[in-house]
Amino acid sequence: MIRAGLWVMRAGLWVVLALTLWSCDEMNHQPRYDSAEASTLFADGKSLQAPPDGTVARDAAALDAALTRRPPMTAALLARGRDRFQIYCVPCHDASGYGRGTVPARGFPQPPSFHSDRLRGAPSHYVVDVITNGYGVMFSYADRVAPADRWAIAGYIHALQLSQNADAAELSPEDLAALDASGTDTGTGTGTGIATDAGVPR
Ligand code: HEC
Repeated sequence: MIRAGLWVMRAGLWVVLALTLWSCDEMNHQPRYDSAEASTLFADGKSLQAPPDGTVARDAAALDAALTRRPPMTAALLARGRDRFQIYCVPCHDASGYGRGTVPARGFPQPPSFHSDRLRGAPSHYVVDVITNGYGVMFSYADRVAPADRWAIAGYIHALQLSQNADAAELSPEDLAALDASGTDTGTGTGTGIATDAGVPR
């Protein structure tokens, strides 16, 4: 009698063990589709369905606003722009923006100088657009430079342009004195500018 009871208990334990293992296997084989697996659920036989027409990504509006609205210019924004410019743009455009970076020095097509009349006249959103979409052989930096940073870089490029093409006549007497002391040719206030190629990496 006792033996028979033990036997029933053992058999019961095996059943419980088998059931446990079976439910584990259920977790391995869940009812889901692998990517691009066929499906009988949809008329086109695909499990991977395109989003319905007019679908808008949840962050699309914020991205759009960040790319169309220029943030106010501040010293902090310029500092951030300088920081990002030095990481992402200097390898090709060089620290002064003449396009003589180390990458073109090794064979990549040389970028244009930021100090041409055309690019000096380009608005900030043009630079933001070039960073976002790329331009000619220059690829897009959209996946590396956040929208707010694109404006910061554009602001810094304007500062660079000004640094190479300022009219000495517009400087305050103190700045002019500091400039004279530095030995830079100021054009003596005749509006010839203080642009100089000195310090441009070759
Ligand atoms: C790998 C090299 C490289 C890097 C890095 C690079 N650029 Fe360029 N960039 C180029 C080249 C080359 C061109 C010219 C492309 C052409 O005309 O086909 C160019 C062109 C431009 C232009 C001028 C477009 C015009 O109208 O002529 C701007 C503005 C510009 N880049 C901004 C940037 C900014 C801002 C960054 C950093 C976020 C950057 N680039 C990073 C190579 C680079």
